[in-house]
Amino acid sequence: MALLQRRSFLKGSVLATLAATTRAVAADSPAPKSGRSAAFPAPVCTPPSLQIPAPTSMGVVWGVTAHATGFVDLSSHPDLADAQRFFAGDGGLKALDDVALGVRLTGLKPDSLYYYRTGTVPIDFKGAYKILPAEPVLSEIHSFRTPGKASPSSFAVINDTHENHPTCALLAAKIETLEPAVTVWNGDLCNSFDQMPRMAQVVLYPGKSNLAVNRPILFTPGNHDYRGVVARELPRVLLTREPTERASAYWTLGWNFAYRQGQIAMIGLDTGEDKPDWHTAWGQLAQFTPYRELQARWLADALEQPEIKNAPYIVAFCHIPLFDDSPTANPGDKAEDYASWQGHCHDLWAPLFEQHGVQLVVTAHKHRFRYDAPSAKRSWAHVVGGSGCDLPPKGQLTVLQGKVTGDRLQLIAHNLTTGATLGDYSFKPRQVSG
Ligand SMILES: [Fe+2]
Ligand SMILES: [Fe+2]
Repeated sequence: MALLQRRSFLKGSVLATLAATTRAVAADSPAPKSGRSAAFPAPVCTPPSLQIPAPTSMGVVWGVTAHATGFVDLSSHPDLADAQRFFAGDGGLKALDDVALGVRLTGLKPDSLYYYRTGTVPIDFKGAYKILPAEPVLSEIHSFRTPGKASPSSFAVINDTHENHPTCALLAAKIETLEPAVTVWNGDLCNSFDQMPRMAQVVLYPGKSNLAVNRPILFTPGNHDYRGVVARELPRVLLTREPTERASAYWTLGWNFAYRQGQIAMIGLDTGEDKPDWHTAWGQLAQFTPYRELQARWLADALEQPEIKNAPYIVAFCHIPLFDDSPTANPGDKAEDYASWQGHCHDLWAPLFEQHGVQLVVTAHKHRFRYDAPSAKRSWAHVVGGSGCDLPPKGQLTVLQGKVTGDRLQLIAHNLTTGATLGDYSFKPRQVSG
């Protein structure tokens, strides 16, 4: 509830002052090679996951197996000289969690390279007046680059992984070769979230890969990510965006994003559940209709922001398709079957896409690749990512790659099942006035 309060941090050479009392992971654990799994000293159980990237902030989350608090040391130097220490937790109390620790790094420079490591402090909480911290456990030193107008104009998209670790390993390996600036995880990470330790493994250590150690992920929720008895705990492992990014009227829109990744304005939207709110399956616990409407108001404001309005390319991401030309396709308002597309979101958001020249909308959910070229009725292209959970030779495991090459945004659909390319499309820059 106290998300608006800033995090505390210490300036200065924290390494020097803590060197005598710190047990480094590096001393007793092999260095995790990029894309490879690694052993972790207790209570750490996952590598760090870079999340909620923004020009002046970044989030770091990692899994733990016992009560602990934590911090991130951050520096512009590879040896962490003059590092700043940012602690997990908001307000007066630092975090205490037995599943995951999340740290928000704020006050950063856009388009800048940073080095970081996590620190995990096991806590023996014997009682209100007897709390025993152990020595911090430090991770390896990793790096990331904050986005901004001068950063690489590229992204990769995976979707519908449905907690399938073997396919996640394949997807992560492919992303490692593509080297995008950021990876969009376009929903349905799970089947349902029913248990917290499992949630941490699914989100933070998919396929025992280092998916987000050196490049951040952007999360757009899928319908399955709202299911299960602990689904409401998801912000413990997938941080919500920095509150300062949006006006107070939109404070509940925790996962919507709008920022510049080089020449590309990245827009994140949440289509929510794939059945109507009144569906008996939700037991009266769904209220996605007003949530989608609020996102339309946020989107209208976001598209007017100068850094978005003046971007050469605008790409929007959401889980459920926003278009289907089949007259029998369920637009999400029927009790039977699941939605093939989200008619309510389409009606709310598509006029804004048209008005502001959004070139491409990237969706998922159908587990089958599809590309809908712009038409006389729709100015924006619509692409549906394939599956993220079908091991080859079954299904259609895909990674969508977006990158600006010369004066075009190129979208390539990689089929990991066959090794072939499903499609290769290019987009001209928008006509920007001023
Ligand atoms: Fe799915
Ligand atoms: Fe879905």
